[in-house]
Amino acid sequence: MAKRKVLNNAKKGGVPAVNVTDEQMEAVEILRNDPIVAAHELLERKMRPLTLTLYQRWSLRQMWEKQFSYLVWSRGCGKTTMLAIYLILRALLFSGQRCVIVSASYRQAILVMREVERFWQESPHLQASVTGDPTFGTTEAILNFNNGSYIKALPLGDGTKIRGERASTLVVDEYAQVPRDILDTVVRPFLNVTADPMGGRDTQAKNFMVIATTAYYKFSHAYQTYQDYKRLTDPHDTLYDPSYCLSEFSYRDAPEGFMDRKIIAEAKRSMEHSQFLMEYENIWLDDTEGYFPRSLVESARRPWLSPRVQGDPRREYVMGIDPARTRDAFAIVIIELADRGALDHRVVFAHQEFQMTFQDMTATIRNFLRTFHIVRIQMDAGGGGSTIKDLLAVPALHYDERTQTTESEDAILDMDDEDHRYLSGQRILRMVKFAPKIITKMNNDLKAQLQGERIYLPGRISQDGWGDPGWEAEARILKNIDTLIAQTSNIVATPNQTGYYSFDTPTQREHKDLYSAWILALNGVLELRSPQPEAAQLAQGFWMSNSMIRTPAEHLQNPQGNAWNNPYR
Ligand SMILES: Nc1ncnc2c1ncn2[C@@H]1O[C@H](COP(=O)(O)OP(=O)(O)O)[C@@H](O)[C@H]1O
Ligand SMILES: [Mg+2]
Repeated sequence: MAKRKVLNNAKKGGVPAVNVTDEQMEAVEILRNDPIVAAHELLERKMRPLTLTLYQRWSLRQMWEKQFSYLVWSRGCGKTTMLAIYLILRALLFSGQRCVIVSASYRQAILVMREVERFWQESPHLQASVTGDPTFGTTEAILNFNNGSYIKALPLGDGTKIRGERASTLVVDEYAQVPRDILDTVVRPFLNVTADPMGGRDTQAKNFMVIATTAYYKFSHAYQTYQDYKRLTDPHDTLYDPSYCLSEFSYRDAPEGFMDRKIIAEAKRSMEHSQFLMEYENIWLDDTEGYFPRSLVESARRPWLSPRVQGDPRREYVMGIDPARTRDAFAIVIIELADRGALDHRVVFAHQEFQMTFQDMTATIRNFLRTFHIVRIQMDAGGGGSTIKDLLAVPALHYDERTQTTESEDAILDMDDEDHRYLSGQRILRMVKFAPKIITKMNNDLKAQLQGERIYLPGRISQDGWGDPGWEAEARILKNIDTLIAQTSNIVATPNQTGYYSFDTPTQREHKDLYSAWILALNGVLELRSPQPEAAQLAQGFWMSNSMIRTPAEHLQNPQGNAWNNPYR
C-alpha cells in the first residue's frame, strides 16, 4: 500500500520523507480529500482501524471542508475525541500546521491533548510521523510532527498568549464555559484573518476553527453563537455563508452500545433535571425562573477572580457555615471583604463534605481558621450548629506537621451568648436562628448584592498551570462554586403565613447547603460593613482594647496565637 509507505519513510525521531514519488503523492492526495478514509487508514483504536460513528463521519467531512464549525453534541458523544482526531489529521496531512487547543480551563484543553496522546500510543503511522513523545508542561502541552506541524494545548491566561500563537487551526472545547472576554480576545481576531491572502483556494493556507459544546442556557454566549451559526448555515438566510457548519447531535444519535444506557439512566436520575436536558438532550434552556435567575447569579462571576486555597495576609474574611443534618452536606463559604469604602466583596472559597461527625466539622472549621484571617463566623444555629458551637468554645491543641510542634488555639466564642461572656477566646461567632424574617432578609440582601454587582464569584483557576501546587485544590473550590451557582439558581420563594417567604429547593431531595452557607457569610459581611453600630453591640458583651485587635499580618505570623488570651499583651 503506497499510502502507508510515504508515512513510514519518516521513522520515529527521524527526518521527514524527502523523495516523495508520484504514487505516494497521489496517496496523500486521496487522504487529504477524504478525512474519513484518512482516519481509518492512519489511526487505530484498540489495535483496529478507527471507526467513526455516522454523525462523526458526517461532521468530520464538514469540518474538513468548512472553515468554521460548531459542534453542539451531548455529553459523551465524542466531542473531545473528535477534536483530537481532526487536529491529528490536519497536522499529519498538511505541513506546517499550527494547531492550538483551548478550553474553559487548561485541564480541559489537556483532555483533548490526552486523546491525541492516546491515538499516538495506539497508531504506528502517527508514531512514525512525529519528532518525539508529546510533552505536558505547566504552560503548554505539545506534539511536534516531522513535517513542521504541531498540536499544542494552551491555558487561557488573558488570551494574549493564544493570540500570539497565530494558530492556523484553532479548536475550542467546552465553549460555553470559556469566559466571554477571553473569546473576544482569541476568537474574534481569528475570524477576521479568515484566509491567507496568498493562499488562494488552497485549503492548506486557510485558517480553520472548530468549537464544541453541549447545549447550555440561552443567556450564554454559546447560544448567541448558535443563533449566528443557524443563520450562517441556512441557505435561505441573507447571512448564509458556505464556510460555516453547524452540527447538532444527541446521545439518541449514537449507535447501539456506543453510550451505555445505564449511564444515561443514572445521569437522568442523579442530575438536576435542567442539567440533564441541556447536557444529554441537547436542549438550550431559558433562564431559571426561581428567586435568583441563573443569569443573575452567573453574572457575578469574574474571569480575573480565582479561588483561594489560603487567605491573602493583607485581607479579612468572613465564614458562613451550614452544619450538616443527617442527609445534608456540611458546607462552608468564605467571603473576602472588600477594602473599606469599596463594595466588591468576593466569594473566594467554598467547601462541602458529606457524612461528617461534629468533631470532623469542628476540626475542618479550625483548619480554615488557620489559613484565612477570619474576622467573623456566621453559623446556622439549627441542624447541629449548637453542638459545633460548644466544641469550638474550648481552646484546642493543634499539631503542626511542618514545624513538628504543638500549638494551643483559641476558643471560638459566641459573641451574643451570656455564658460565653467571661470566657477568653476569639469572640467572632454569631449564631443565626433561621426564622422567616431573617431568612427573607438574607435572600433579599443576596439578590440586591447580585443586582448591584457588589458580590463576585471566581471565574477560573489562578495560574491555570497543569501540575502547579494548589492547582487541584483550586479546581475543587471552583467545582464547589459551580454547585453553589446551581443551588442558588434553583431556589424558589413561596409566601408563608407569617407574611415572609420560605426559600427552598423545588423538591426535598435537592441540596442547598452551599447556598445557605453563602447567604450566612454575606449576612456577616453586611453586618460588619454596614454603618449600623455594630461595635456598640460588641462592647456590651465584651470589653476589648484596640491593642487586642490583631491586624491580618499579625494573624498570619501567629494564626492562632495567644493575642486574644493575653490581655496584657
Ligand atoms: N469513534 C469512536 N470510537 C470509539 N470510541 C469513541 C469514539 N468517539 C468517542 N469515543 C469514546 O467515547 C467516550 C466519550 O467521548 P468524549 O470525546 O469524551 O465525549 P464528549 O467530549 O462529547 O463528552 C470516550 O471514552 C471516547 O474515547
Ligand atoms: Mg469532552
